[in-house]
Amino acid sequence: MPCELPPAGICRHWENDTDRDRFQGSCAVRIGRGAFAALQERWRALSPAAMPSASFPALRLRRTRATAWSRALVAETVLTPSDLIWPLFVTQGEGVEEPIATLPGVSRWSVDRIGERAREARDLGIPCVALFPNTPPALRTDDAREALNPANLICRAVRALKDAAPDIGVLTDVALDPYTAHGHDGIVDAAGYVLNDATSRILADQALVQAEAGADIIAPSDMMDGRVGAIRSALEQAGHVNVQIMAYAAKYASAFYGPFRDAVGSRGLLKGDKKSYQMDPANGEEALREVALDLAEGADTVMVKPGLPYLDIIRRVKERFEVPVFAYQVSGEYAMIEAAAAAGAGDRDALVLETLTAFKRAGCAGVLTYHAPVAARLLGA
Ligand code: PBG
Repeated sequence: MPCELPPAGICRHWENDTDRDRFQGSCAVRIGRGAFAALQERWRALSPAAMPSASFPALRLRRTRATAWSRALVAETVLTPSDLIWPLFVTQGEGVEEPIATLPGVSRWSVDRIGERAREARDLGIPCVALFPNTPPALRTDDAREALNPANLICRAVRALKDAAPDIGVLTDVALDPYTAHGHDGIVDAAGYVLNDATSRILADQALVQAEAGADIIAPSDMMDGRVGAIRSALEQAGHVNVQIMAYAAKYASAFYGPFRDAVGSRGLLKGDKKSYQMDPANGEEALREVALDLAEGADTVMVKPGLPYLDIIRRVKERFEVPVFAYQVSGEYAMIEAAAAAGAGDRDALVLETLTAFKRAGCAGVLTYHAPVAARLLGA
């Protein structure tokens, strides 16, 4: 029987003299004992878990896959509702639910209806919700001053959520794009360049306003340099010592954000692109530097965004820093799954659970996903 164990060239049959005699002539690959030991050492160092204890037919990997109970027993990753963060869109008005055309199944809710969502999250076992505002057009300005209004949509929604379900975590997004007249995440100069330090100062104030309203997690999604440090020291000085920062540390300039920009009403406003602050999809090492910086500045947890196209980044961040890593399965990813299901190209529920499980396998502590309530129901909360 030829030996097909990886890596090519290494054969367990040659481990000792007895084996060598027994298998002499039966292996496709022959190497000396010393060479085998050296290779085996290297193999062990590279991938200790991959060291097989037997070879076919003694080893049949399909044995543990044969039945559902056995698959459940050997599952390496488990997805539960407590891995999910549910992003919610808030809009003005009363009694309002506004469906978002490019995000079928997702709506904007008025503040008086946002409490229902918090109770729904609680009943489904979802620990945390994330909030995004669709600011009325008249309140969008070049200086984004509405972001600092303690009575803005986000602050009112935070209070409504906390009243309805005090035990549900509330994450608020720190960035200026839902508040600017030009749709950028910061203050732009005459040439259209997003100014780093001026923006960062406003973001720290925005974070404070949100923390005052009761936000539990501040999530800067703007990609300015140094903003995590600015926000952390503002929070410390104001006594908000237990407010977490989840940094959108590795956020890419992605084509997957389209439906989100519809949801917050910035798509039509945005001039140009966000490539001078969001990351180039070509880069991985740079993502590690971004994460290192944000952790050094006081982030408690980090996020990679978008999700599925960047699983390699999630894995590298997890292995390098050993901190809780989150993924944002963004609006375009949600829309792709819904479109595939609507076109009959795949089963929606299976696609949802498979992609979310992939994030856990890649190393995520949790995932922001518009499918959170769907997934939680499927997981039988
Ligand atoms: C804005 C922000 C964006 C998302 C979250 N915060 C869009 C952007 O950067 O243009 C995208 C989320 C999604 O697509 O679901 N700071």
